[in-house]
Order: sequence, then C-alpha cells, then structure tokens
Amino acid sequence: MTSRHPSAVIVLAAGEGTRMKSATPKVLHRIGGRSLLGHALHAARQAGPEHLAVVVRHERDRVAAHVAELDPAAVVADQDEVKGTGRACECGLAALPADLAGTVLVTMGDVPLLTPETLVDLTERHETSGAAVTVITAELPDAKAYGRVVRDEAGDVVAIMEYKDALQHREAGSEFAHVVDIREINSGIYAFDAEVLRSALAEVGTDNAQGEKYLTDVLAIARREGRRVAAHLVEDLWQTEGVNDRVQLAALGRELNRRTVERWMREGVTVVDPATTWIDVDVTIGRDTEIRPGTQLLGSTVVGADAVVGPDTTLTDVAVGDGASVVRTQAEGARIGDGATVGPFSYLRPGTVLGARGKIGGFVETKNAEIGEGAKVPHLTYCGDAVIGDGANIGAGTIFANYDGVAKHRTVVGRHSFVGSDSVLIAPVEIADGAYVAAGSAIEGKVGPGQIAVARGRQRNVDGWVARRRPGTSTARAAEAALAEQAPSSSGPTTPAENPTQES
Ligand code: UD1
Ligand code: CA
Repeated sequence: MTSRHPSAVIVLAAGEGTRMKSATPKVLHRIGGRSLLGHALHAARQAGPEHLAVVVRHERDRVAAHVAELDPAAVVADQDEVKGTGRACECGLAALPADLAGTVLVTMGDVPLLTPETLVDLTERHETSGAAVTVITAELPDAKAYGRVVRDEAGDVVAIMEYKDALQHREAGSEFAHVVDIREINSGIYAFDAEVLRSALAEVGTDNAQGEKYLTDVLAIARREGRRVAAHLVEDLWQTEGVNDRVQLAALGRELNRRTVERWMREGVTVVDPATTWIDVDVTIGRDTEIRPGTQLLGSTVVGADAVVGPDTTLTDVAVGDGASVVRTQAEGARIGDGATVGPFSYLRPGTVLGARGKIGGFVETKNAEIGEGAKVPHLTYCGDAVIGDGANIGAGTIFANYDGVAKHRTVVGRHSFVGSDSVLIAPVEIADGAYVAAGSAIEGKVGPGQIAVARGRQRNVDGWVARRRPGTSTARAAEAALAEQAPSSSGPTTPAENPTQES
C-alpha cells in the first residue's frame, strides 16, 4: 500500500436492516464466504489506519463478538439512543483518543465491494487536495433513495441532501426543488479532517425529514465555515452499493463472485463455466488447475496446481494437492494429497486425510480417516475413525464399524494390507502391515503380519433343494435343464440323501 495511512477508520454498523426481514443482523449476512461487516473490516484494515472503530447498536452483542473474532484490535463503539449516521460517527469518535488528528475515514458495514485500493486512493486524494472533507460519489442512472450531491456553479460540493428531504423540497417548490433529480449520489464513504469532523458533528441537529442526526450535514457545515469539500467520483458503481434487502445481497454476491472467478482466471486457472462456479474470497488456487462446471470452493479451501476439480463438487475448508482430481464430490475439512483421486460421488467429512496418489472412489464416505500414500478405498465403503497404511487396498463394500452405540473406536489397517470385499471391521481392531482379510469377513480381533483372517461361515451346497422346495418354478425348470445337460446319461438329479442336513 502507499505511504499515506489514515489516523482512523470508523465503520458504521449500528443500523437494524429492517428490509432484510431477518433474525440475523444485516451486517452478519454473508457473501463470498465473509459477512458484510467482514468485508468492510477487511477493506478498513488494509487501508492501514492507526485506529479502527466499529459502531454497533442493533444486536450489539452478536455484532461485537463478530468484530472481536475477525479483528481483535478493532475498537467496538456503542451508539446511544440518538439516531442517525452523524450520531453513529460521534460515538465512534468518542471511543478513539480525544486528541485524534489527521484523516478519519468513515465507511459502512453494509457496503461489501468497496476495495482497500479505493480507500487508499481516497486518503491520498483527500490529503493532497487539502480538503476538509472528501466524499466518494457515484453517478447512477437512477439515484433511488440515496443522498444527492449538491454542487454550486463552480462545481464545488456545497451539501448532501437526503432523498426524503429533497422530496419535501420539491413538494414545497423551494429553491432546492431540483435536487431530487440530481443523479450524483453520496456513497456514504468519506475522508474527514478529524478536527473538522469533531467540531461540525457537535453542531448537527435533527431537524430533518427523519428526525435523525445526519453525518451528511457535516459537509454543509464545513463548507459554511469556509472549508473545502471535495468529491471523489468513482466509476465502479458496485463499490458504493449497499445491501438493504436480500435481492441486493444476492446481486452483490454474484458480482463479488464474478470478480473472484475472474481474478483466478487471470492468475492461470481454467474455469470452464464461470456462471456456475462459486469461489469464496479466501480460497486460493494454483496454476493450470481446471475448475469444471457446478463447483463451489468455499471457506479456506486451497487447491494446488494442475489439479482438476468438478464437475458438481463442493469443497469447504479442503486442501487439494497438486495434480489431484476431485470429481462430483462433497468434502469438508479434508486434505487430499498430491496426485490423489477422489470421486465420483464421494463424501469426505472432517478429519479425512488422503495421502499422495491415494484414491477414494465412488459411494465412499470417510470421516476422521487417515489414508496413506497410494492407499485405495475405491468403492462403496464407510470409513470412519481409521488409519490406513501406505499402499493398502480396501475392497468394495467394506464397512468400518466404528460406533458401538455408545462410543467411537478406531481401526488400523497396516501398510500394503488387503481387505477383501464386503468385510466389516468391527472397531477397535488392528490389522498389521502385509496382512489379508478374506472377502465377506467380520473382523473383530487382531490380524498379524503375513496372516489372512477368514471370518465367515463356510459354504455348503444342498443338492436338490430347488426341486424339493420350489417345484414348478422357472428356477426349478432351469435347474432341471442344466442338470440334464450336465449329465445327459443319468436319469435324474443327485439324491437328497447325499446331504447330511435338512435345509429349508
Ligand atoms: C446514508 C446517507 C446517504 C447515502 C447512503 C449511502 C446519511 C444521513 N445518509 O443513507 O446520503 O446516500 O447512506 O448508502 O448519512 N447507521 C448507524 N447508526 C445509525 C444509522 C445508520 O450506524 O443510527 C449505519 C448503518 O448500519 C449503515 C450505515 O450507517 O451501515 C447507513 O445507514 P442507512 O440507514 O442505510 O443510511 P441511508 O439512509 O441509506
Ligand atoms: Ca442504506
């Protein structure tokens, strides 16, 4: 960042956000994997201020706890019952050193796309121009309910008039009747000279359409006192857009995602379908990785280089190694090694660690499972609370029975061991390095190195059972034909008497 740093940033976040119609405070709603307030705090912190204050009131404790979690160095300032952005700002100042001088930036907790670069730029322009106030403005095709920027003939900013007040002026046919038609709007983001802000706020009253203490009145007061008020018009309208309802939340979320996806494409990541790819702001992706349609990379997910992720894959807080392939997979809190393959249709739960070149295949669910290098769990398996050694192979349909109804237990499968298909490993159980488990076994005791464990009923065949118990069925007819073909010289099936037991 540049050499100019503001003395303080005050983030206003005390408002209620009624139009969200939500039990969650507006600023805690999320886009791109971060709360609205999280985005505002991030930008504010990146601007490099000496002090950072967040003004809270609605759902005070929840919002304050969130601030403490995201940025412990930030000061939480409480707004009292006096309403308005001006009062909020005053309360923010009151939480900072009384002799605070220099530039104070004011931002909004519900404007998530504002970038740190714009704040740095604002500080720079404000300080070099010598203005007492610099406000970020934007020209909108429809100025909606934003505050209007009023300029004099010379083009200097003289005031900001709130929409409701502008409407009243039009109705009254006053000299300000035209203000409502102005399309240059106040973004609500400003740089102030600290002393000017402090003294002007003390003069701001509540005589307006909403009966609130408006921060915007500071501009007219500064101007009246002979100070310069400047405007910094930004072209990128998204940066000044606030969230008031869930329609805007989704629109800003989509735009943020578009920007994030584009950033990664510019960094050398192939994104086959940007429209169906969602990437949270803290995710990182290596070069030449290909993200296929319908993929969500969320939270703190890290994807290496030359990997393939998707289609239709959701990864939350997952690490994917270089050259790995993760197809049609749902994973959370997992680590996937270099060159490993996962999917299609795999479900990796927290604590899954797949070693380099390992495999987790179709219809496999894993949880708290460490699977070694080159080890394979290819088909139809539940694998929980397990340690599987390098090069081991877990046969199709194996179940790690980790739960006895009371507690969870661990299974260890040694290096290069082989578990036959459709086995149940009843934990706690340990299979040594270089051991085998026969298919269809229910294993509940130790298996030593080099041993094979066979734990299943022996096969018995009962001759003539079909003819006796299912006479006249298509199965009986098929059996009869097969037997006739097998022994064309003999006159009938083998006698039931050859079998010792009576099967039913
Ligand atoms: C404000 C501006 C308006 C500008 C618009 C940009 C004022 C008087 N008006 O209007 O010119 O175009 O923002 O979005 O400043 N807040 C508090 N305490 C309060 C009231 C609000 O902290 O008592 C916070 C809110 O949490 C929010 C921000 O200030 O983050 C803006 O509040 P909001 O009520 O949305 O202001 P607007 O009426 O939209
Ligand atoms: Ca607003």
